[in-house]
Amino acid sequence: MTIKIGLFGLGTVGSGLLTLLAEQNNKIKASTGLDFTVKTALVSTLTKDRPGLDPAIQLTTDPNDILNDPEIDLVVEVAGGTGSAKGWIKSALSSKKPVITANKDLIATAGQELIELANKAQVPLLYEAAVAGGIPIITTLQNYYRTDTIRSLAGIVNGTTNYMLTQMAQNGLSYEKALKQAQELGFAEADPTNDVAGYDAAYKAIILARLVFGLESTLDELAITGIQEITDDDIAAVKVLGGQLKLLFTINQVGEDSIALSVSPQVILPDSPLSQVHNENNAIVVNSDNLGQTMYYGPGAGARPTAQAVLADILLAATATKESHQVFSSENMRLAEPNVQAYC
Ligand code: HSE
Repeated sequence: MTIKIGLFGLGTVGSGLLTLLAEQNNKIKASTGLDFTVKTALVSTLTKDRPGLDPAIQLTTDPNDILNDPEIDLVVEVAGGTGSAKGWIKSALSSKKPVITANKDLIATAGQELIELANKAQVPLLYEAAVAGGIPIITTLQNYYRTDTIRSLAGIVNGTTNYMLTQMAQNGLSYEKALKQAQELGFAEADPTNDVAGYDAAYKAIILARLVFGLESTLDELAITGIQEITDDDIAAVKVLGGQLKLLFTINQVGEDSIALSVSPQVILPDSPLSQVHNENNAIVVNSDNLGQTMYYGPGAGARPTAQAVLADILLAATATKESHQVFSSENMRLAEPNVQAYC
C-alpha cells in the first residue's frame, strides 16, 4: 500500500526527510508493507536549484495543492513559523489527515487547540521532532511514564547554544564565530535570536510541561535568560572553577498545584551527568517516583536526527489504529490533570 505524503517545507529537515525516506523505504516496506512517497512539497520559491531532488515530487507554492488533494494521505509540516503553518495543520486535521510536525513554536503556542482538533477528527497529530530532535522524549514520556509520577524535568534542549558554549569553552571560539558555525551546520533557527535568547528552549519546556503536568503556559509566564550576555571572561571564570556554562531549562513541581518553569545559563559541575553533553547534543533529566533520576541523551538538532524523529512519527501515524490513536493523541496524552498554575 502506498502512503502519499504532502510535505510543507523543503529546508534542512524537509530535505533530510527525503534522504531518510530514500534510504529507509525498502526496510519500512519489508516490515510494514507500506510504501511512503512524497507526492507534493510546498516550497517558497520554484526557481531555486535543488540538485538530486526526485523529479517525481511535485513542487508547489500553493498550499491548496496539498490541502485539497484527496490523494494525499498524510501531511508533514516542517516549514516552521506560527502563521501559515497553523492554518495548514488545522485544514489537514479537519480533512481527517494525520499531521506530523517539527514546529515547536506552533505546538508550544497553539498545541492545545490543535490537539483538541486532532482529537475531534480522531486523527494523530504527532510532534516528536519538536523537542530535542534525535531523542525520542515525547514518545517516552507519553508511553513509558504512564505508570510513574514525574516530579521534575531539566536539561539542555537547544543544540545551537550548547554548540556555541562548547566551542567557546573548548576551542576558544568567539560568540560570533560559534554562532556562525552553528548556523552553517544547520542547527540554528532561521532567526537565531530564538536560540540565543532562550526562546527556543522555552518553547520546548512549555511543550514538555503541558505533556507531563497538563500546564498551559506562555513565553511571558516563564523566567527566561539567554546566552547573549555571556562573555569570554564568564566562560574562563567558570572553567577555572572546573565547571561549564550550559543553557538549562527546569520544570519543577512546587507544591501540589504549581509548576515553576525557567530557562537560563547555569554552571554545570563535573559530577553532573549534564557535564558530558557537548556541542549540538541535548539531554533531558527526568525525576520520577519509580525511576529516580533518568537522563535521555542524544543529538538535538540537525537534518538527520530531526528527520529521523519525523519519519518515526510518519510510521507511527500510518500504522495507528483508532485505539492506538487514543493512546498517543487523545486527552489521555496528558499525564496530569490540566489544573495546575504556572509559577515563576
Ligand atoms: N535551533 C534548534 C536548536 C533546532 O538549536 O536546538 C532544533 O530544534
